[in-house]
Amino acid sequence: MVRAVDRLYRALYRGVLSRLPERAAAGLGQWWLRALPLDRFSIFRNTDPRLAVTLGGVTLPNPLILSSMYYDPRILRRAMGLGFGAVTAKSITRAPRPGHPHPNLVRIDTAEGPGLINCNGFKNPGLDAYRRALAGLPHRVPLIVAAAGESVEEYVDVVAGLEAFGDLVELNISSPNTRLVYEWSTRPAEAEKLFRAVRMSTRKPLIVKVSPDHWQATEESLVPAAMDSGINIVNCGNTRRVEEPRLSQKAGGLSGPALFAATLRHVGRLRDRFGAGLQIIACGGIDEPSKACQALAAGADACAYFTGFVTRGPALARLTLDEILATRKPSTGYPLIHRDPPARK
Ligand SMILES: Cc1cc2nc3c(=O)[nH]c(=O)nc-3n(C[C@H](O)[C@H](O)[C@H](O)COP(=O)(O)O)c2cc1C
Repeated sequence: MVRAVDRLYRALYRGVLSRLPERAAAGLGQWWLRALPLDRFSIFRNTDPRLAVTLGGVTLPNPLILSSMYYDPRILRRAMGLGFGAVTAKSITRAPRPGHPHPNLVRIDTAEGPGLINCNGFKNPGLDAYRRALAGLPHRVPLIVAAAGESVEEYVDVVAGLEAFGDLVELNISSPNTRLVYEWSTRPAEAEKLFRAVRMSTRKPLIVKVSPDHWQATEESLVPAAMDSGINIVNCGNTRRVEEPRLSQKAGGLSGPALFAATLRHVGRLRDRFGAGLQIIACGGIDEPSKACQALAAGADACAYFTGFVTRGPALARLTLDEILATRKPSTGYPLIHRDPPARK
């Protein structure tokens, strides 16, 4: 049944969604998500307890995470019933932000498959309004709330204001669409102050979301600084900055399968370098079940995706979970496909 839904969605994506102007397609996709009660259908879920993983002490029923993009609680609520082990809300800033003007999202056909480039610019209702919006959201699976900011104080305020509504908190220091967020990676000493201040402001498990663009700094300074501050989960990673004349900002963040080779390489490098003391979320280009399995095999504890949700639809999570179970090695227990990480250097 889920394969039939997968085929139907692919036909719909090819025939309708990918032909509409991007703004109309995104509006229609979100309208469907709100309107259709897909989360009531068990075909989208695999509840096998062998899939459960623990992230920062929080149990996820499985290792698949919907990556940060949606802030509407009605969509987050639906997504929680679509097979994911956790759902991430959009990065929130202290004050409301209108985001960058349209066009702020375009499709791109890369050699690896269909991707997106966005310069969304953190369109969000701001901390106070978002606290009210999240207050009534039941957590069918864990919710990851996400914070962005331009100063240490702003992150601290947003994290302290959001933490009661999330099971984990993600620090976005990597979106390429606003200069100040993106540049945290280029100022590791200040990033360390940020990590320490935020760590003091919440008892919830923290995740640092890093950029594929600043890899050397990530490996050599940011991840060690995060771990020294008591933050032991890294999401690698965000979109990659590219020039794009069709966008209002003439540049944006590339997402989708073109990122996958780097994601896999980065996961393996982090696992080799930091060992079992670091938990890793693989994110960037995961849009097929086999890619999630490869990321887990490379050392990821969990896998997140967003573009795959758009291009492959709601059946992808269930198909991926089925493949993870089918490829597990029964002798060792989940996460069976992990290598044994060497000790931290
Ligand atoms: C339209 C759009 C909006 C996004 N907004 C956010 C955001 O608010 N915060 C964030 O951390 N990442 C954001 N992302 C990045 C995704 O969460 C994800 O890290 C990235 O797209 C790579 O994964 P993917 O290839 O599976 O899409 C956004 C991506 C897109 C396409």
